[in-house]
Amino acid sequence: MLLTLRVPRSRLCLGRQQHRRLLASTAPEEAKRQTTQHPLQLEINGNTYPTDSWTNVTPRILSHLGLNKHLQRDHPLSIIRQRIINYFYGAYRNQRGNPLFSVYDKLSPIVTVQQNFDNLLIPIDHVSRQKSDCYYVNREHLLRAHTTAHQVELISGGLDNFLVVGEVYRRDEIDSTHYPVFHQADAVRLVTKDKLFERNPGLELFEETWSGSLADPKRILPSSKCMDQTKQPCHTLEAVKLMEHEMKHVLVGLTKDLFGPRIKYRWVDTYFPFTQPSWELEIYFKDNWLEVLGCGIMRHEILQKAGVHQSIGYAFGVGLERLAMILFDIPDIRLFWSNDSGFLSQFSEQDLQNLPKYKPISHYPQCSNDLSFWLPANVEIDAGFSANDFYDLARTIAGDVVEQISLVDKFKHPKTGKTSLCFRIVYRHMERTLTQAEVNEIHKHIADASVEAFNVQIR
Ligand code: DAH
Repeated sequence: MLLTLRVPRSRLCLGRQQHRRLLASTAPEEAKRQTTQHPLQLEINGNTYPTDSWTNVTPRILSHLGLNKHLQRDHPLSIIRQRIINYFYGAYRNQRGNPLFSVYDKLSPIVTVQQNFDNLLIPIDHVSRQKSDCYYVNREHLLRAHTTAHQVELISGGLDNFLVVGEVYRRDEIDSTHYPVFHQADAVRLVTKDKLFERNPGLELFEETWSGSLADPKRILPSSKCMDQTKQPCHTLEAVKLMEHEMKHVLVGLTKDLFGPRIKYRWVDTYFPFTQPSWELEIYFKDNWLEVLGCGIMRHEILQKAGVHQSIGYAFGVGLERLAMILFDIPDIRLFWSNDSGFLSQFSEQDLQNLPKYKPISHYPQCSNDLSFWLPANVEIDAGFSANDFYDLARTIAGDVVEQISLVDKFKHPKTGKTSLCFRIVYRHMERTLTQAEVNEIHKHIADASVEAFNVQIR
C-alpha cells in the first residue's frame, strides 16, 4: 500500500483466482513451503541475516534483487528514469553550468527499519510498518518499501540535491497495475537561507520564537491527519511559501515535460509523516484524476537527524511504472518484468523524447533460429555489408512473422581473415502457433536469399 492509502485500486481484467494462478508458477506445495518456512539464516548479496518471527521474504521476491530493470538498456523504466534525471539536470545547474543533482540508482534495497520508518518519523503504529505490508528479512531489516528510505543517510553524507532511483517492495495483490516489486524515484533539495532569500536578504528560515531544539526523535508522533497544512512550527511562512512555489513549479515542469504542455493537473493536500505541508500531484488522464507523485516540505526533525540545521528542504517521490504505463500505453504491470524480445524490442533509448506506443504482442510462442555465415573475403560489417540490409532482406522474405533479429556473434578467422556473423531471428506469428518445420523452411529461404544477395557462405 502507499503510505497515503489514497490510491484507488483499479482491477482491470483478471479475477482473483486467475491472479493466483498466474502468480503461482511454482507448484502449490512448493509455493507454500517458500512462503511459510524459512531457513535459520538468509544469505542475500553476500550478507548473512538471521531469520526470526518477522521474516516473510520469499525466494520468489528475493529473486528480483539485482534485476535492475531501471538500468536495463532500452527498458521502458530505464527510459523514464533518464527522462526524470535529464529534466532535473536541466532544471538545476550550478554556476559552472553543471547539473546540481546527483543520482543514486544502485543503492541496496535491503534497509533497516530505522531507515525505512524511524528516520522518516513514520509513527510506530502506522499501518505501513505491518508485517502484512512489507517484506521483512528479519525484525531489523526489510526490503525498502520506498526510495525515501535513503534520505537521511544521503543527507548525512553531505548531499543537498539528489535523486534516488530503485525498486521497492510491498506486499500487495497482483493485478494489472500492482506488482509486489516496482520502481520509484525520490528527490531531495535543500537550500540555505542565503540561497532562498537571495533577493530578500532580510528574511529568515526559522521563526524567531522557535527554540531550535530538536524534538525528541524517539517521540514519533501518532499519525494525525489533522497536522497543520500551513507549515511546521519552526519554519517562517515566507520560507515555506517560497519553497512550495519552487517545488510546485519544478514538479509541474516535470509533469509537462513527460505528458506534454497541455496536460491537466491539480494539487491535492495530503499527509505524509515525513513532510509538512504535503501534496499530491494528479493528472487528468482517460477521464480520471490520477495521482502521479507525492511531495512536501521536509520535516525539520529529519534534517536535524541528518546533521543539517540551517536549511529547508523539499522532497518528492514518484512511481515509475505508473508513468511508463501511461506514456507507453503499457496495459499490464507484469510486462515490465518480461524478457520477451517482442516486448523489449519495442523501446529504445536512442530517442528519449519520442516515446512509442506499445503494440500488444502476440501470445503465441516464439521460435528462435540462428543463422551464421562467412562474409566474402575483404568484406566486413559496415564495410561492404550492412546488418540493416540483412534485416530488410529477412523482412522481405518472411514478412511479419519475424519479430526480432539481433546480431549475436561476430568474429574474424585468424588465418583466412574472413568475418563470420551470427544472427538470431525470433519468429512469432500474431494469430497462430508456428510449427518448427514451418519456421525452418522460412529460415532456409532467408539463408538462400542471403547467399544470393550478399555472396555469403552459410556455416
Ligand atoms: N514515499 C512516498 C510513497 O511511497 C512518496 C513520497 C511522498 C516521497 C512525499 C517523498 C515525499 O520523498 O516527500 O508513497
